[in-house]
This record gives sequence, C-alpha cells and structure tokens, in this order.
Amino acid sequence: MAWAAPAQAQGQLNLYCSVQVEWCTAIANTFQRDTGITVNMTQKGSGESLAQIRAEAQNPRGDVWFGGTGDPHLIVAEEGLSVEYKSAAHVDLQPWAIRQYEAAKGRSVGVYSGAVGFGFNTELLAKKTISAPACWADLTKAAYKGEIQVANPNSSGTAYVIIATLVQLMGEDKAFAYLKELHPNINAYARSGTGPIKAVARGETAVSLSFVHDAVTESNAGFPVKYNTPCEGTGYEIGSMSIIKGARNIANARRFYDWALTPAAQRIGFEVGKQLQMPSNKNAPLPPGAPDLSKMKLVEYDFVKYGAAAERRRLLAKWDAEIGSLPR
Ligand code: F6P
Repeated sequence: MAWAAPAQAQGQLNLYCSVQVEWCTAIANTFQRDTGITVNMTQKGSGESLAQIRAEAQNPRGDVWFGGTGDPHLIVAEEGLSVEYKSAAHVDLQPWAIRQYEAAKGRSVGVYSGAVGFGFNTELLAKKTISAPACWADLTKAAYKGEIQVANPNSSGTAYVIIATLVQLMGEDKAFAYLKELHPNINAYARSGTGPIKAVARGETAVSLSFVHDAVTESNAGFPVKYNTPCEGTGYEIGSMSIIKGARNIANARRFYDWALTPAAQRIGFEVGKQLQMPSNKNAPLPPGAPDLSKMKLVEYDFVKYGAAAERRRLLAKWDAEIGSLPR
C-alpha cells in the first residue's frame, strides 16, 4: 500500500474499457501502480460504451475510452463527444492506427487491430461429422442449422464489423439476403462480441463468427478451438481509444493515452489474458501465435463510411427490421 498516498495526490481517472475484462482490469491496475492515479474502470461492449457516452453528453462521467471497435469511436468523434489529442508516440504508430486518427480528425487513435473469421470447436464438429467452415458460402449450408453463434450488432462492435464486412464484400442487397439465409443456422445473437467464441470453447455451439484473435485466446487456454479466415475475404477492426469531451480529469486522460500507446502497455493484454490483437506501436512485437493480418485476404474496409453515425443507424435499423425480428 506504499502507493496509496500518492494515488490520492495524483487524482482520479474514469476509464471506459471495451476489451476483455482481464485486460481492462490489468491496464487499470498497472496504470494506477505506475502513476499513482486512482483508476475507476467500467467494462462494456463497444456499442454499449457508445450509448453510455451519448447518454452522458451533458454531464460526462468518463475521461477516456480504451478499446472496442473503431467505428463507434469515429461516431463519438463525429458527434463532438471526444476531443483532439496527438500523443508523442504518434510517430511510432502503424499506418492503420494513424488512419483512424485521421478519420476521426485527431479525436481517436488505433491501439490494436484484428480480423473477422470463423471460430470452431474441433471436437464438436468431429462428433457431429460436420466439416469446418472455410468460406462465407459454407455457413448457410443445412449442415450448420442451429450450430452457429454471432453477437447482436446493437451492443457488439464485432457484430457490426461483420455486417459492414459482408456489405462491402457482397453489396448491401446480397449481404442482407445472405444474413436472412444464415438466420436459421444461428442459435443465438449474443450481447458481447466474445460471447460466441466462449460458447464455442465450452462446447455450447460448434461455430462462431468472431475476431480470430479471440479464437486463439481460447485455444491457448486449452480448449479445442481453431479458426479460419473466410476464403472470399474478410474485414477487420481498428481497436481504438478516445478522450471524452468534458473529461473532468483531462490531464490524467492525456497521461493514460500516452501510456497506453507505449510498447510496454501494449503487451499487457497478452501478458495477463493472452489477448492476441496486433499492437499499434511499431515497436511492440506481434504476440506469439497472434493472427497476422498481413497474410490475410482483407477487404478495403471503408472506415469513414461505416464509422459514420447515420450509416451505422441505418444498417442497425435494417438489421433489426429484417434479421433481428425474424422468428426463431
Ligand atoms: O477484447 C476482444 C475484442 O474482440 C476486441 O478485439 C474488440 O475490439 C472487442 O472485443 C469488441 O467487443 P464487442 O463486440 O463486445 O463490442
């Protein structure tokens, strides 16, 4: 408790966090230990954090939002709910992290990236004599009826990236026709983006649509989980960070932002929870076993278009009307 007194002296930081809870807890504790700043952390999915920041616009309670998919961070920027900041670490960042900064007009930055794919339970598939999906086209086959899980795009940034990916791969009409055809094969639309891959790990569902780094996390934890990236091509996230407008602890928010972009801080997710996203600082090595995006067939994801508030609202309303409301 030697640092308890300086912690009070250094004040507070209210951290909204949209990566997995082990990682959120570890960054909160490590930053608090390194700086003496008391961190109050709240973990929520990307869509839920966006909703909270919007709801608190007149009376902001958060100082900084760490992690979660990049699209809602761009919406927060567009709606004037975050502020510009350029860290000294900017020069060390990957080009995709800087693209997020530019798209947000300086009000957000990339902290990690990861690609969409299929996670599957090898033992369950073998038991049911179903082959592992390799292409988007495989998932609508009758063999997968009731075997697939994905998250709900209203709460989950992962699920929104999946929809935006399909729209960019197929065109909007075909993408929604595909989602409709897929619906009978989906057993649940989970709240959180990592819910489905955890269900795969526990053997509750055979296949999930997930970020593939989360599949490796489960296989590293000893579960019979593997992943494929879709043969037709796939989309990806730029996991991001933003300082909330009206932050009561703005100096501490900037200090956290600088700290979170250092190579040492970018290793924390891997160290505590075997989180395997690609770090945005060029000097932070790719964690061992992390999926390498440079080896994947990726769509030219239009972050500006799909990170616009009106486009997200429109696509979510369409998903609610045409997919989410279908009988189960
Ligand atoms: O922490 C795992 C992760 O997959 C991140 O890579 C991603 O940004 C986040 O979860 C998205 O969570 P959700 O889909 O619940 O918003």
